[in-house]
Amino acid sequence: MKSVVIVGGGVVGLFIAVRLAKAGARVTLLEAEGEHADVFGPGASIAAAGMLAPLDEAVSAHTALAFESYDLWRHTHAGTPWADGVRFDGGVVIAKDEVDAYGYERAASQYGRRARTLSGSDFRRRTGLHTKVGGAVFLEDEGVADPERVLSGLAMEARALGVIIEYHQDVANVTATAALTNEGRVYEADLIVLSPGAWATDKLKAAAPALARVTAGKGHLVSVTLASELKPNLHGAGFYIARRRQDVVIGATMEPGRYDRRVERAKVDQLVAAARLVLGDEIADVGRAWTGIRPMSPDGWPMVGRSGEVLVAAGHSRNGWLLAPVTAEIITAYVFGADIPERWAALSPDRFNEKPKNP
Ligand code: GLY
Repeated sequence: MKSVVIVGGGVVGLFIAVRLAKAGARVTLLEAEGEHADVFGPGASIAAAGMLAPLDEAVSAHTALAFESYDLWRHTHAGTPWADGVRFDGGVVIAKDEVDAYGYERAASQYGRRARTLSGSDFRRRTGLHTKVGGAVFLEDEGVADPERVLSGLAMEARALGVIIEYHQDVANVTATAALTNEGRVYEADLIVLSPGAWATDKLKAAAPALARVTAGKGHLVSVTLASELKPNLHGAGFYIARRRQDVVIGATMEPGRYDRRVERAKVDQLVAAARLVLGDEIADVGRAWTGIRPMSPDGWPMVGRSGEVLVAAGHSRNGWLLAPVTAEIITAYVFGADIPERWAALSPDRFNEKPKNP
């Protein structure tokens, strides 16, 4: 039986643990924080809005993977302990004009997905919001995951599959077959998978050079109360808004290079003002605000594959939640020596290595 130690218990690490255990591996997952993640802790997963939005970003060579991962969310949630933590109500993009709206429709159809331009009354019916917009597009393949519910549900699912989860285990160093904690504990396995978020020690970076490319992307988020009940996610200029299980969240700023988790009133006001431009009085109340630190890669797409003597699943940037399931598929293929299709190999950290110059 293959044994694997995973370092990092965010959404990516947990998805990998579940998937590897289902494939027959003996899995231990080490997490530096405690069991009940909190938005005031350092983890990016719990701070996120949990958007599952494959077309949220500009279309790139990897967008097909974003849809592949979205489909995994759709097809694997039923029957899991976290099934009630995900919603698939689609997303509405507020378009700048008709050309912009058409661009979204075309991008969706390029991937075989449905999108539809909304009239003003369609918009109100779809979103439940009584506000006027010039133009909007409904994207069918979009959803949202409630971080708290899904993280705790994934941990339950992992344990039920035999995964050993050890909290408060701060990994200071790794070799090809062992993870060593700050307190001197040693966890041995056939393979080590690193998914440490934005924080990795210099020793981890030395063992897995790809981690040295991960930088911070701080984001502010704020919970609000709306006058009407929002259904799909809504994307506007400078903000998005999503209804999770128990709250409605406006996100998120992008502050590169910032590792501090201080909440700045000006940043929160900026987000709320962008949303108010569209939603006006629909925003009935503004609640608490918090920040998260995204682990950014140089191109905004994760690095999944071999780095040094270990496997990494790192730098998920703005899409840790969306891309966690496909990341787990890719890592499982590496662990079991299966074929890696080109679209998965394209996420290897090697893509950032300097290409040899022609003689
Ligand atoms: N995916 C949304 C964000 O990173 O803010």
